[in-house]
Amino acid sequence: MKQSSSVADLTDELRKEVNRYSPGGKLPSSRALVERFRVSPVTVSRALAQLAAEGLVVTRPGAGAYRARPRTPLAATGDTSWQEVALSADGAADLVPRTVDASGVTVCLAAPPPGVIEFSGGYPHPSLQPEKAMAAALSRAGRRPGAWGRPPLDGLPELREWFARGIGDTVTAADVLITSGGQSALTTALRALAPPGAPVLVESPTYPGMLAIARAAGLRPVPVPVDRDGVRPDLLADAFRATGARVFVCQPLFQNPTGAVLAADRRPEVLRIAREAGAFVVEDDFVRRLPHEDSGPLPRPLAAEDPDGVVVHVCSLTKATSPSFRVGALAARGPVLERLRAIQIVDTFFVPRPLQEAALELVGSPAWPRHQRTLSTELRARRDAMTAGLALRLPELALPHIPSGGYHLWLRLPDGLDEPALQSAALRAGVAFTPGRPYFSAEPTAAHIRLSFAAVSGTEEIAEGLRRLRAACDEALGGPVPQFVRHTPAVL
Ligand SMILES: Cc1ncc(COP(=O)(O)O)c(C=O)c1O
Repeated sequence: MKQSSSVADLTDELRKEVNRYSPGGKLPSSRALVERFRVSPVTVSRALAQLAAEGLVVTRPGAGAYRARPRTPLAATGDTSWQEVALSADGAADLVPRTVDASGVTVCLAAPPPGVIEFSGGYPHPSLQPEKAMAAALSRAGRRPGAWGRPPLDGLPELREWFARGIGDTVTAADVLITSGGQSALTTALRALAPPGAPVLVESPTYPGMLAIARAAGLRPVPVPVDRDGVRPDLLADAFRATGARVFVCQPLFQNPTGAVLAADRRPEVLRIAREAGAFVVEDDFVRRLPHEDSGPLPRPLAAEDPDGVVVHVCSLTKATSPSFRVGALAARGPVLERLRAIQIVDTFFVPRPLQEAALELVGSPAWPRHQRTLSTELRARRDAMTAGLALRLPELALPHIPSGGYHLWLRLPDGLDEPALQSAALRAGVAFTPGRPYFSAEPTAAHIRLSFAAVSGTEEIAEGLRRLRAACDEALGGPVPQFVRHTPAVL
């Protein structure tokens, strides 16, 4: 800690000083800096490395550090407007135009403006991440023999085995490919299973990041409604008949955004309907490692009850660790595995070996089960704080389902309150949420919002966020703006 703050201090000092030297001029020697700032040689070399990374200095081994020569930017002179035409000109050749739109994903990834409470985040707050355990795992991983070598293309065998064990008895390590998180696994699956122009059945509502993947691949998402027991099998069968689709993307556990769990009697139905349609079910098991303390035993993945290779299973470590811990898995049985493997290798080669080694170190450490218990307890406390606060302050927002896993609630807005108006008012009041519209691939059934309780620092922030949301509702509905709103930071 001390070491890293002295590095930061010295870096700041040197950053201020560097302009005094002429471009290309030599900076004082490391020894002189050690003596002058009374820091260790390691601190000096880390500070210089930081400045080199920023492009302010150039270090030459054995010779010293020099002020970098300024780069002459060319960008301002060019004219990039031709790209507008180029990027759209060949749309006519596409059966279904590809739409590349990252907004559905960035809304969960982007940090909100300073001072704004984040009910929009899709990942746990840093205080809920196993930061120490991840750091220790990464450092142990870096020292493993061969850590920087090329990994087997399908992933480290022990990590594939670990994921296979978590899925169920029908799956072995040989059926698993290690991926760069769930997003990349979904991209591989959709590209492997459906050609451009094909329909793909999706739950409605569903994760906008998956709709973005489908559209970017030129697929046509066709919505199949979800109720509190998950996707409706009668409508799923109709949708297969009407479209001839060969793929259905499903989140059977704590669905994003509704939190629904596919009911026990629907699970075999979904598999049977897909099997009869000759179609694959892509099972996005994204929050299996985020049960709340009171969840009870979880239903197994659909893949564990699928002898015929209908299910292509997707899972990831990110939601229980950090968005940067981009390690996930695809599991499938039968010839489809070869197709998935080929797409993944063509697109990305493989997941960096140090990260795979770190994943193995992390999930094998005693800290991992401890972290999972803490996460379950914390998520439950936050969910309870949010549901209680909503009932007290915002009773007009309908909450049809309180999930026992995952990190968010899905609320229906009352008539007369629309999503854009509420979103703008909320940002002015200092709270960010995710509007419901992007979760529907076609016309939405009603106005909704999704509130995440994992990305905030704790229950106090939840209470404050809900106070701000109350003020935003009043403003959007045209009511009086309560006194306390004037004291919250005005943002936008
Ligand atoms: C339903 C669902 N699937 C997959 C993902 C992708 O997550 P990651 O790539 O971090 O594993 C997300 C992220 O928000 C999600 O909500």
